[in-house]
Amino acid sequence: MLRPPRRLPRPPRRAAATATGPGRRLLLSTPIFYANGPPHIGHLYSALLADALHRHRGLRGAGPGRLSTGTDEHGLKIQQAAAAAGTSPPELCERVSGLFRQALTQAAVSFTDFTRTSEPRHQRAVRHFWGALRDSGALYKGSYEGWYCTPEECFLPESQLAERRDAQGRPCKVSLETGHQVHWTKEENYMFRLSAFRDPLRKWLRDNPRAISPDPFYQNVLRWLDEDLPDLSVSRERSRLQWGIPVPSDSTQTIYVWVDALVNYLSVVGYPERHGEWWPAAHHVVGKDILKFHAVYWPALLMAAGLAPPERIFVHSHWTVRGQKMSKSLGNVIDPSACIGQYTLDGFRYFLLRQGVPERDCDYYDEKVVKLVNSELADALGGLLNRSTALSINPSNTYPCFSESCFPKVLDYRETNGIGRASAEDYEFVASVASLPLQVASYFEGFQIYKALECIALCVRQTNSFFQRHRPWKLDRKDPAEQLWLDTIIHVTLECLRVFGTLLQPVIPHAADKLLSRLGVEPEERGLSSLTFLPRYSGKPCPFEGRQLGPDTGVLFHRLERPRQHQTETKKL
Ligand code: MSP
Repeated sequence: MLRPPRRLPRPPRRAAATATGPGRRLLLSTPIFYANGPPHIGHLYSALLADALHRHRGLRGAGPGRLSTGTDEHGLKIQQAAAAAGTSPPELCERVSGLFRQALTQAAVSFTDFTRTSEPRHQRAVRHFWGALRDSGALYKGSYEGWYCTPEECFLPESQLAERRDAQGRPCKVSLETGHQVHWTKEENYMFRLSAFRDPLRKWLRDNPRAISPDPFYQNVLRWLDEDLPDLSVSRERSRLQWGIPVPSDSTQTIYVWVDALVNYLSVVGYPERHGEWWPAAHHVVGKDILKFHAVYWPALLMAAGLAPPERIFVHSHWTVRGQKMSKSLGNVIDPSACIGQYTLDGFRYFLLRQGVPERDCDYYDEKVVKLVNSELADALGGLLNRSTALSINPSNTYPCFSESCFPKVLDYRETNGIGRASAEDYEFVASVASLPLQVASYFEGFQIYKALECIALCVRQTNSFFQRHRPWKLDRKDPAEQLWLDTIIHVTLECLRVFGTLLQPVIPHAADKLLSRLGVEPEERGLSSLTFLPRYSGKPCPFEGRQLGPDTGVLFHRLERPRQHQTETKKL
């Protein structure tokens, strides 16, 4: 039995390097993925959300940032998966970790760090972290028994279990949440005094109301803290679990895989020597199924080890497939690589981020991707670029001039009668595009990327209506007055496209690059902090006016074909 804690450790103050303000560092993370099976679109969704946040932050010039990801390679689940596949855990992990790295790279997830929990530098960090827990008195050895769910790698209380029959018709218990069978396990384990952290956790959440977003998940965590909070078993007998990091100075025990995995967020920033430059400026993106591990266990473990909890935890819900949970046994697991092959990298990224709503589960089916991507990327955005840059309408292939006499600045757009050629509707539309960058920034900040995309899609539709309404192709370019108006219509349209392209970079990086290059926007002009819209309307110079457009490299986004059924399901490992 270890010493009980004399008093609870307090989280240390934030390091100076992580103070708020411009130029501060930030670690964004995806969860690390279990190396027991190939990637699916749920994994990709977690990673894309983190990637979009990371790219958005980079475009804002917000300071040095890292995006970490990796594979979670220890534990019973992996040990059993390797045995079932007739291979060894290291071989299985090597193969599956490679698949994840490949899938993330193929999806243009701009990770800066990829941690494998089997790496020596990570294992060293875990051993050190364990030592910090032990030294603080937060661990004790006790006999533990309960229902263990291997796929979830945790003990479950009776309240989270249901009675079922197994394949042989024998009665068994399963996890209510996932339906996986649980097994009665009785062991000598090291226990973590989680129960002692109820108040510090509550205080942390009260002091940091934005620590967990969206808000319904924050409320869930507060509710959990009102419920039973038993101590946590943080090791397994080595005789049962060999594939893991041994407890320092007790080789009969293996460190619990969740403690091991969570420490990846520290090992990636150089724990235990150099993490102070980054920690606790960390934002974790996690699925709702692993919220308790991140919002209760992890902050408590950190506090016990003398570190502050992460700054923010962004939570998302799950993808189902045609209304069903994605699972190997149902054979409906969707393979991200097949999706990218079929719908293109940008098309599939756009679909997941535009349709995925963090607060609730979303349903996947192939026809939905085709419909959304065709209407919003191919037709609306691509069509707009195509129409406004067509040589028939813009033979000089330049960014034409804006005419103040055609589109004069007004104080109240409802009183535009007689002055200029723009209508009240035009003023309204220009005002909504002008407010788009701030709106998008605030949606990214609140982890509502889908809403940012919804607003952009709405503005794209409004720009198409503006273009259509004024039928620029009907204007007589020999008449100087008509030419001025024609140029103004195209100028406004290209300005809108420039804003859309800039804002869409975190989500559809390749198509956005193509769009901005076509408009002649240089790489250094693509940042979000310097993004202006229609400066000529406010009497300021527009650096693009009169500039030659970039080369026409073809259609921005080809329409997708209707898929044959189940084309995107994953192959066996
Ligand atoms: N290894 C743990 C995480 C440890 S982090 C310290 C794990 N791995 S996982 O591979 O099972 O899941 C990784 C991520 O994928 C989680 O955020 C999880 O929520 C997400 N998804 C898994 N299935 C999903 C869906 N069907 N839909 C959306 N995301 C889901 O948990």
